[in-house]
Amino acid sequence: MTTGDTRPSWTSIEEIGDVVRSCTKCALHKGRVNAVPGSGSANARIIIIGEGPGFNEDQQGLPFIGRSGKLLDELLAAVPIVRDDVFITNVVKCRPPDNRDPLPDEVIACRPYLKRQMELLDPRVIVTLGRHSLLRFYHEGKISKDHGKILRWEGRILFPLYHPAAGLRNPAIKKQLQEDVLQLPEAVRESIRLSAPAPQPPQPSTEVSESQIAEQPTQPIAEVPETPEAGTQLSETQFTNETTEKGDRQLGMF
Ligand code: URA
Ligand code: SF4
Repeated sequence: MTTGDTRPSWTSIEEIGDVVRSCTKCALHKGRVNAVPGSGSANARIIIIGEGPGFNEDQQGLPFIGRSGKLLDELLAAVPIVRDDVFITNVVKCRPPDNRDPLPDEVIACRPYLKRQMELLDPRVIVTLGRHSLLRFYHEGKISKDHGKILRWEGRILFPLYHPAAGLRNPAIKKQLQEDVLQLPEAVRESIRLSAPAPQPPQPSTEVSESQIAEQPTQPIAEVPETPEAGTQLSETQFTNETTEKGDRQLGMF
């Protein structure tokens, strides 16, 4: 359901799923077998966001169930995290033909769904997989520079990772993914610190204990500016694939 203005008023993750499954807002609906709204816990504090469904995902209507999904599961298992602990979705909810990159107008058309999913889930940590997903939150981001960094975005933690499909193509990227994902617990801890009430200044008579000092974040984390309506400003050139080179998501076909 939408209100008279264009602001979506979907009240649950399930409702968004229903709307997405019958959505015809962009041309991607024409080629889909199933839309893939996302899956996982509606109470998840971690959201994981890929680019768009591949062949297997389109067949079954579930995110990350092909080879990329298997690698994602392996990476999460090392943390350890299981899928029920997180919510997994994509920037676009329908499969681009031949697994090409999503086009700017498709990202823009699909944007309200991810936006509302974020509002309803209110995740503390946003894990972006690959370049498209990173750009959705951090317009100036560069996956080759920002992967594995714990960044701050609108009061939440943004934790960019390479796309698992890139890891399947390139052993060095896979190794980097395996290393980076181990920072996820620290990203979660940082998100807890971020949402905790600001520590009160010690009373004159109270000594600051060592443990209190230790709890202060040692280094300020970089805040990334979200592009206001990032989707509308993404240009064609920014959508040429750099790190998840063309064909990466085709690995999802296996
Ligand atoms: N790649 C993605 O970006 N998303 C999926 O759901 C599967 C493969
Ligand atoms: Fe609708 Fe998004 Fe699918 Fe396009 S990709 S048809 S906007 S759900």
